[in-house]
Amino acid sequence: MASRISSCDVSSLVYTLLLLFLLTIPNATNGFKLKLIPRTEIDSFLFPKNLSLLETHKRLVQLTRTRSLSFNQITPENLKPRVTNVLTSVYVVQMLIGTDPSFSTFLLMDSGSDDTWIQCDGCVNCFPLGGGSFKYRASKTYKAVSCNHPLCIPKLCSPQGLCLYSIRYGYNAFSGGIVSAENFTFPDTVEDSISFQNVVFGCGFDNQNIQFGAPLGEHNFIAGIIGLGAGSRSILSQLSASTNLRFSYCFTPYSSPAPYSYLWFGEDARINGDFKTTPLVERGIPRYYVNLKKISLNDIELPIDPLLFALRDDLSGGFAFDTGSGQTTLVNSAYQVLKLFVDSHFSEFGMDPITDRELPYDLCYHVPSAGKEYSRPSMTYHFDGDGADLVVDGSQVFQDFDDIFCLIVLPRSNDEGPSLLGSYQMVGYRFLTDVRQKTISFVPEMCSNA
Ligand SMILES: *[C@@H]1O[C@H](CO)[C@@H](O)[C@H](O)[C@H]1NC(C)=O
Ligand SMILES: *[C@@H]1O[C@H](CO)[C@@H](O)[C@H](O)[C@H]1NC(C)=O
Repeated sequence: MASRISSCDVSSLVYTLLLLFLLTIPNATNGFKLKLIPRTEIDSFLFPKNLSLLETHKRLVQLTRTRSLSFNQITPENLKPRVTNVLTSVYVVQMLIGTDPSFSTFLLMDSGSDDTWIQCDGCVNCFPLGGGSFKYRASKTYKAVSCNHPLCIPKLCSPQGLCLYSIRYGYNAFSGGIVSAENFTFPDTVEDSISFQNVVFGCGFDNQNIQFGAPLGEHNFIAGIIGLGAGSRSILSQLSASTNLRFSYCFTPYSSPAPYSYLWFGEDARINGDFKTTPLVERGIPRYYVNLKKISLNDIELPIDPLLFALRDDLSGGFAFDTGSGQTTLVNSAYQVLKLFVDSHFSEFGMDPITDRELPYDLCYHVPSAGKEYSRPSMTYHFDGDGADLVVDGSQVFQDFDDIFCLIVLPRSNDEGPSLLGSYQMVGYRFLTDVRQKTISFVPEMCSNA
């Protein structure tokens, strides 16, 4: 071959190399995005448009609290007060399930669990759902999953050999039914949607005490939960050919109306620049736990025992990234130290906490009159890993409500944990979660709807 090289061959060689190069470029379709819709924008019953920002936050605090409480290990003491709230989230995902006809609905986005389930038509115990439940019998692509399917975990079998599921949440909430496979479609814009065949999910026929964070009754529009945890049954793992077990996100600063965000998967999940990386702590729980060594306020290291953030042998404690939470939630002893130091920071400017008003947050101040000098401290989370410090700007630590502002970190009632980093404190960074590498990376970035 070499003896026959001519200028023509050289150009065809270049052409061949170019073609080879193009062929090895990662397939642009091997990735996708899920639109995260803030509940404040779509849940017109819980969040009517005429709510004040303070009232909106009252309800958001309730959602985040309910969510973090549902992560507790449930002991009889925890059942007081007996409210029938279940897992919730400040974000929902729109989806279509089935084919000819497909059923359009919303699912709660949950990065803290693996389970995806949807209430199915014909349920024995049902929660109210505007628009009705998924009419699986009408869909041309519905299949019940047999007991020997690899995703039939645990092997819970019907006498007919079908795979069953049964999930118990806190507060006596329960969902059970038939493990099934369907066509899932995630729309973004009208022209832009992506479909996946044979996605395994729970078709829920027995749903007891299910309320997605608030008693909505007939105004409920959420049909179930989409699990984006790290376990084998999660959507992340099932669609691993497209997700490559990685996703990235970048939340935009709060505004009204609240902006959409996206979860980017697979080749679309990117991080650039001088990013920092911290290892995921794996203990067989689908939640994204990391090692938090300490917290600083401005440059002052807070005297918090790091053991308060450690994931213990009985799986209590721990510190996790939780996009389904809005506010960050800290175990009580850690929160009290933070509160003390925030308070002493503002007392240096002669500012006292507001005590004579009922507010959704525990520590609030009057905004000083114009011209009076003061500053709002940043908060830094020091994670395991080289320089893995997440500096949260004061504008993401405090929220203004007209003439007052509040620390938007929530305390847990005890030290059981987990502590959760919520999405409102993730603003100003892009994050990449890589389950295969077992890492979370982050880099400062101000995103505009990306
Ligand atoms: C908001 O509007 C609803 C009717 O849409 C009304 O019932 C309610 O009182 C209003 N709330 C406020 C705070 O204005
Ligand atoms: C999956 O559902 C979408 C939306 O209804 C539809 O466009 C698509 O044809 C379906 N795919 C299959 C294989 O049935």
